[in-house]
Amino acid sequence: MHDSFRSAFPALQRLHKGEPLIYLDGPGGTQVPEAVIKACSDYYRTSNANTHGQFITAQETDHILDDTRLACSEFLGAAGPHTISFGQNMTTINFSLSRAMARTWQPGDEVLITQLDHEANRGPWLALREQGIVVREVRLLPEGRLDYEDLQSKLSDRTRLLAMGYSSNFMGTINDVALARKLTHQVGAWLLLDAVHYAPHYPLNVQAIDCDFLLCSAYKFYGPHIGVLYARPGLLDRLPLDRLRTAPQEAPYSIETGTLNHSALAGVGATLDFLASYGEGQNRREQLVSAMDRIQQHEAGLFAHLYHGLEAIPGCTIVGTGLDEAQRAPTLALRIANQHPTEICRILGEANIMAWDGHFYALRAAEVLGLRAVGGVTRLGISAYTTQEEIDRVLDVIHRIATGHKIEA
Ligand SMILES: Cc1ncc(COP(=O)(O)O)c(C=O)c1O
Repeated sequence: MHDSFRSAFPALQRLHKGEPLIYLDGPGGTQVPEAVIKACSDYYRTSNANTHGQFITAQETDHILDDTRLACSEFLGAAGPHTISFGQNMTTINFSLSRAMARTWQPGDEVLITQLDHEANRGPWLALREQGIVVREVRLLPEGRLDYEDLQSKLSDRTRLLAMGYSSNFMGTINDVALARKLTHQVGAWLLLDAVHYAPHYPLNVQAIDCDFLLCSAYKFYGPHIGVLYARPGLLDRLPLDRLRTAPQEAPYSIETGTLNHSALAGVGATLDFLASYGEGQNRREQLVSAMDRIQQHEAGLFAHLYHGLEAIPGCTIVGTGLDEAQRAPTLALRIANQHPTEICRILGEANIMAWDGHFYALRAAEVLGLRAVGGVTRLGISAYTTQEEIDRVLDVIHRIATGHKIEA
C-alpha cells in the first residue's frame, strides 16, 4: 500500500532546500492527493452551478452532493445519507447545534464538557451560560486521561448533553466512548462526539457507538476544508436551527445555511473514494473500513517506534505517560527540558520537519496540565503517508536538540 499511497500526494514530492519535507503536522491538517485536487478543479471546469435546476450542470451538482453525502455516511458507518450534513468546518456546525439545542432547554439544564477537549467542543457550550444553562467540565488527570468517576458524578437527570472528544488533538488520548454512552443513557442525556482527531486514524461506526451526534472535518483526513455532521435519524428535525424560511426544514439540510462549498464537497467524495481504493471489500463501506484498518496498523507501528525512540532521549518527556499505546491515537505532545516548543519547532522546521508548537486550541488541557505558561508542547502527529525513515530523521534531530548538538541541514 505504502509507496503508491505516498506517490498520490503532490505535496510529498516537493522539495525545500533540495530535500523532501517531513509532514508531522497532520493533526492540524493533512496533505491532499492529486485525485482530490482534480475533483475540486474538475467541478469548476464542468459542473459549476447551484443546486436543484432543470439543466445539466445543476443536475451534476445535485449528483455530486448526493454521492458525497452517501460516501460520508459509509465512512462513518451511518444508516444513510439523510444522517449527514455539511458545513464550513466543525466549529461552525457545533455553534449552530448549540444555539439550536439551547432554544429547547430551560435555565438550570446542564451540559457536560471536558477539560481535554478542543475549544471547538467547549466554546459553543460555554456560550450557553449566558442563557442560564449550567456548563460543567470533566477533570483531566495529570496522566493524560479523563477522570471517569468525575464524569459519572457530574451527570444527573438535569444533564441534557455530554459533549466529548473521541480523541485528543493535544496528546492523542482516546476517550472511553462506550462508557460515556452507557452513563449518558442512564440519565437520558445526548452524547455528542468530536471525532475530528479520531476520524483520520480509525474506522468509525456511529451506529455501533450509538452516539447522537458526531462531528469531523475532512481536511484532517486528506480532504478539503469541510465540516461533517452525523445526527441520529430524527434528532436534527427536532432542533430549531438558524434557518431561512426558504430553506428546507428537514434533516440533513436544515443545518446547512446558504450555498455549500460544492467544489470542496466534490473533493470530499473523491477523498473517500481514494481511501476506499486502499481497502478490500464488496462495497465502499467495507473498503473504507479495511483501508482505515490498514492505516491504523501502519500508523501504530510507526507511533511505537517514535514513542520508544523519544523515551530513550535524555531530557525528553512525553505528556500523558499514564496512557498505554491502545489509549492514544498516533499523536503525541512532547517537552524537552529547558527548550521552548516554539524554538524546538523552529529548529525542526529548519530541518524540513513540520510540527506544531503551542496548545492547538486545546487550551484548557494545556492550562490544567500547567503547560500554558511554558509555551505548551511540541506536537508530533503520524499520518498514513509517514515513513519509518522520516521517524528516524525526526528522532535524530530531536536527539540533537535535546543534547545541544548542531543540526546538519
Ligand atoms: C479535536 C478537534 N476538534 C475540533 C477542531 C476544529 O475543527 P474545525 O477546524 O473543522 O473547526 C479541531 C481542529 O484542529 C480539532 O483538532
